[in-house]
Amino acid sequence: MATSTPTTATSPWSIVKTIRQSPPVDLEAPYDTASLAGKTILITGGASGFGAAFARKWASHGSHIIIGDVNDQAGEAIVAELRSLPNSSQHHHYQHCDVTNWSDQVALFKLAAKASPTGGIDAVVAGAGIVDHAAPDSGRAFDHPGDLTADAPPAPPLNVLAVNLTGVMYTSHLALFWLDRNGTTAEGKLRDRHLLLVSSIAGMIPLPGQTEYAASKHAVVGLFRTLRGTVWQRGIRCNVVCPYFVHTPLMPTVGVALLAGSGMAQLEDVVDAATRLMADEGIVGRGLVIGPKFRVVDGEDGEMRLELRGEEMGNGREKAVWEAYAHDYEQVEVFVYRFVQMLNALKAVRGWVATVKDLYSIYVRGRRVEKGVKTT
Ligand SMILES: NC(=O)c1ccc[n+]([C@@H]2O[C@H](COP(=O)([O-])OP(=O)(O)OC[C@H]3O[C@@H](n4cnc5c(N)ncnc54)[C@H](O)[C@@H]3O)[C@@H](O)[C@H]2O)c1
Repeated sequence: MATSTPTTATSPWSIVKTIRQSPPVDLEAPYDTASLAGKTILITGGASGFGAAFARKWASHGSHIIIGDVNDQAGEAIVAELRSLPNSSQHHHYQHCDVTNWSDQVALFKLAAKASPTGGIDAVVAGAGIVDHAAPDSGRAFDHPGDLTADAPPAPPLNVLAVNLTGVMYTSHLALFWLDRNGTTAEGKLRDRHLLLVSSIAGMIPLPGQTEYAASKHAVVGLFRTLRGTVWQRGIRCNVVCPYFVHTPLMPTVGVALLAGSGMAQLEDVVDAATRLMADEGIVGRGLVIGPKFRVVDGEDGEMRLELRGEEMGNGREKAVWEAYAHDYEQVEVFVYRFVQMLNALKAVRGWVATVKDLYSIYVRGRRVEKGVKTT
C-alpha cells in the first residue's frame, strides 16, 4: 500500500472517481426494469440454470436474447419459449456455441449484432460454466495425480479451466470489442455497454475437492477486479455476481446432500441481483454476492444480527444479496494509481485532440465555402 491512511473514498490514493465506479448499491431500494426493453443481450450458457432464468426474466421485460450453449435441445427450447411470450420480441435466437472455441464465439457475437434491431449489442453475460463432476477426469485427477509407481502422471485435462476461464476470457474480449461499437439512443446518449461476469462464492472462498473450479472462479473475480480499472474509458460497465450454492443442474447431488438442513441460495435472488445490475445503468464496477436468505435484525446496541430464514426469527428484513470487493479502488498502490491517472490524462488529451480536429475541419470547410470551393 502506498499509504497507511484509512480506506475511504476520500483517501488521496482513491481512484474511484477516475474509474467511474458507482457508489455502493442500495440493495433495499427498488429498481426500474424499464431500461431492459429493447436491449440486445447475449448470454453464454443460457440454455439452463442461471442463464435460462436471466433470459426468461429479461425477455419478459422486452429484451432481445441471444443464447449460445452446447446444449442445443435445451437452447432451442428456451428460445421457442421466449418467442411464445405475449408481445414477444422476434429477435430471440439460439446458436450452438462451445465457449472454448474462438470461432464459435465470434459467430455468436456476429449473430447477436445482426439480429439486434439496432445493430448493436447492449449487454453480454459470460455465464457458461461447468464443475468437476461434469468432467469426471478433471478436478479429482488434479488433486490426485494417480498411480505413484508410474514414471510420471499424465497431464491433467483442465476441461473446467477451459470452459470457466478460457471461455470467459474469449467472451469478455469479444464483449469489449462489440460493446465498444454499440451506438447511441434516439436522444443521442450512448447505449448501454454492460459486461456481466458470473463468478461464484468459490471465487472468494476455498472449495476443497473442486480445485479447478475454485481456481477458475477466483480468476473470474480477478478479471472483474482488474477490468473495471480500464473499461470505463470506453463507457463499458463491468459487474459481477458471485452466487453461493444454488440448486441447478450444475450442482452435484452430493453437494445438495451435504448442504441439507443449512441454507442454499435461491435462484430468484440470483436473478434479482443480476437484473438489478442489468437494468440500472448507473451501477458500474460493483460485485454482488448472493447467499441464503438471512433475516437482518438491528440490535438495540447498534450491532447487526443475522438469522437464517426458517429459524426462530425476530423482526427484521430479509437479505440475500451483499456487496463484495467494493473497496478495491478506494486506496490503491502507487503503480495502479499512476497508471489509471495516466489513462485518464490520455483520454482527456484524445478528447481535446478530437475537438481541435473538429474545429479545424469546420474552419477549413467554412473557408472553402467562402471561396466558393465545392465541399463534399
Ligand atoms: N449453481 C450454483 O450453485 C452456482 C453457484 C455459483 C456460480 N455458478 C455459476 O453460474 C454459471 C451457470 O451455472 P448454472 O448453475 O446455471 O449451471 P447449468 O449447468 O444449469 O448451466 C450452465 C450452462 O452452461 C452450458 N455450458 C457448459 N459448457 C459449455 C461450453 N463449453 N460452451 C457453452 N456452454 C456451455 C451448459 O450446457 C449449461 O446450459 C456457471 O458459470 C457456474 O459456475 C453456479
